[in-house]
Formats: sequence, C-alpha cells, structure tokens
Amino acid sequence: MNGPPIERVLFTEEQIRERVRAVAEEISRDYAGREIKLIGVLKGSVFFLTDLARQLDLPVKIDFLAVSSFGNQTGAPGLVRIAKDLDDSIEEEDILLVEDIVDTGFTSRYLMQHLAARRPNSLRICTLLDRTSRRIAQAPIHYRCFEIPDRFVVGWGLDYRQLYRNLNYIAVLRLDSPNPLP
Ligand code: PRP
Repeated sequence: MNGPPIERVLFTEEQIRERVRAVAEEISRDYAGREIKLIGVLKGSVFFLTDLARQLDLPVKIDFLAVSSFGNQTGAPGLVRIAKDLDDSIEEEDILLVEDIVDTGFTSRYLMQHLAARRPNSLRICTLLDRTSRRIAQAPIHYRCFEIPDRFVVGWGLDYRQLYRNLNYIAVLRLDSPNPLP
C-alpha cells in the first residue's frame, strides 16, 4: 500500500503526546479546583481535544461548534460564520476554545468575540499548532503545543481535502507530488 506523500515528519506521536501532557499539566494547575468546558472547532480539533481532555486533572465538559469561512469580494479571507452552534449555554463557565491550528487568526478572533458575548466566566484559546507567520488577525493564544513553519501540514486532525486527519504524526505534505491523493 502506498503511504501518504509526506515530505518530512515534523512531530512524532511520542513528541505530540509528551507536549500535550505538558500543556494539560499547565492547564490543570491554572484551573485547579474549577470545572472546565472544552469547546472544539470541527473537524480538525477533535483528535487534539480528546487527547487533551484525557490528560486533564480536572472535571471536564465538552461541546463542539463548526464554522464556515469565506473570502470577501476581493478574494481575501476573513469572513467566518457559525455553521453548527454549541448545544448548551456557556454562561458563567470556564471555557477553553480548542483548535488544531491557528493560521490567519480569523477563525479564533471571530469565535472569541462570539463566545465572549455569551458571558462565560473565563475564555482562553488552546491550540495544537500555531503558524504565526501567516497571522493577520490577532488572536490571544494562551496555550499552544507547537509553532510550525509556513508549510502545509497534515495529520493529528489536520487534513488535505479531508484526508490524512488520522495520521499518527504531523507532517509536511508534498504538494508538488504528481498525485497527493492516493
Ligand atoms: C482550520 C482550523 C481552524 C482554522 C484556522 O479549520 O481548524 O478552525 O482552519 O485558520 P485561520 O486561523 O486561518 O482562521 P479548517 O477550515 O481547515 O476546517 P477543518 O477543521 O474541518 O479541517
């Protein structure tokens, strides 16, 4: 069977698990004695969210939302809308918005404004990957596992045309491959 067209592995399963454990310890310390609700942004964050949730030494609730992103009339990115909203209220709760990647920052900035309007007790962002070189909109990232270069990455929730989310590592995809799809 052909493997995925990978240029190089950025982070192995072992490195990811170790880093998620360390970030979960930090979060557990910061929220000690409180209950936390993780909000995952479908679909990419699902893998990271479930890893993180299992490493937290806190009472944990989870909820999910989905967004659609559009370019504006000039083709620039930046328009985001909610495609699937949360199931429950977040009022008075301690909320951690969990992302697989923060890139331009438009999604996180929009979601932080959207969620803040629902009066949670606290609201922070936790992301697996941070591609700071592509940032346009500032988003206050409180916890991040890795910063990555300006390359197209797949695995651990991140896709290329919906494929490769299930890879047990994070890798740079070879987009110059004659056939990046199997
Ligand atoms: C990714 C990621 C973030 C968003 C970040 O989602 O999960 O939600 O892009 O990009 P930004 O910082 O430029 O706004 P994507 O649209 O790829 O959907 P997916 O999670 O279903 O793969």
